[in-house]
Amino acid sequence: MIGGSGFLGAWVVELAQRVEALEVASLARDPAHFPRPRPGERVQRLEADALAADELEQALAAWKPTHVILCAALSRMADCKHDPERAHRMNVDLPHRVALCSRGRARVVFSSTDLVFGARAPGPGGFDENATPAPISDYGRSKLGGESVLRVHARVDPNLSIVRLPLLYGPSLGRGLGASDSLLAALQRGETPQLFTDERRSPLDVRDGAAALLEIALGEHCGLLHVGGPVAIDRYSFGMAVLLEQGLSVAAARSKLRAGLRRDAGLEQERPADVSLDSTRARALLRTRLRGPSEALADSSV
Ligand SMILES: NC(=O)c1ccc[n+]([C@@H]2O[C@H](COP(=O)([O-])OP(=O)(O)OC[C@H]3O[C@@H](n4cnc5c(N)ncnc54)[C@H](OP(=O)(O)O)[C@@H]3O)[C@@H](O)[C@H]2O)c1
Repeated sequence: MIGGSGFLGAWVVELAQRVEALEVASLARDPAHFPRPRPGERVQRLEADALAADELEQALAAWKPTHVILCAALSRMADCKHDPERAHRMNVDLPHRVALCSRGRARVVFSSTDLVFGARAPGPGGFDENATPAPISDYGRSKLGGESVLRVHARVDPNLSIVRLPLLYGPSLGRGLGASDSLLAALQRGETPQLFTDERRSPLDVRDGAAALLEIALGEHCGLLHVGGPVAIDRYSFGMAVLLEQGLSVAAARSKLRAGLRRDAGLEQERPADVSLDSTRARALLRTRLRGPSEALADSSV
């Protein structure tokens, strides 16, 4: 697992440890970002800065994985806008280097994003795997760049999958990460977050996203797969659902959030109106259930 300290990666690492036959290693840059070790965990924690010369290559050569799930990324839109060169190194060069190290040795699963779309509106069911990507943000462009280099690698070694994920939410192991925990953390800080009513996504619980990545890694699917939630919903309504699940009344939940439009915040040009994914193929292919928010938000299991 590369990027095992992140929001998604930590769940992949957690679920992989529940598969008895697997030996799990988790690589990330800063040990302080790993979730707190829990008793009985059986994961080898590796520290390497993927941007420092050869550190990643050396770690992979020593580790010799048979399956690599790549979740390390520059994953925040604002960070990619602020530093597009770093975004390129993390989101385009890194998948290329991982694929090179893994060629003929390990199966690779790359976590990509719904934000490779945005310039055009989807069809009624969302974007399926045949839709032409057209990102509008530096983040989306860099992730699409990562997909493109992997497609070139796939001509030589097709044993890789590109999985496009939507907005992820759900438990972040006490770290205030992801669409729901970061919202709750903002409220705890006394903020009144603004959420957009004109920004539609097909959100997915991070536990389902991680389970799907693991299933894909251990399976045989090659190529592109959309793994989104079954419900397309705007960010404000999703935020309301999070707060209602916390037991707030509708009036109380409304008072905690500011409903807005992307243009109110000057973000219309970089935050797409609708990047909801059509995940029909994944639902037919995977045993992992891709739950909707009403079911997943009520699930407090970790
Ligand atoms: N979260 C979402 O809603 C969402 C939606 C769609 C797709 N995705 C995709 O899912 C993947 C994971 O996203 P996430 O939200 O879990 O991201 P995240 O929380 O930001 O985690 C990023 C991971 O990358 C590691 N990393 C960053 N720079 C590194 C470096 N130089 N060397 C080694 N490791 C480094 C981080 O480790 P350190 O903390 O030590 O730097 C961390 O483990 C990404 O590919 C993202 O594009 C996420």
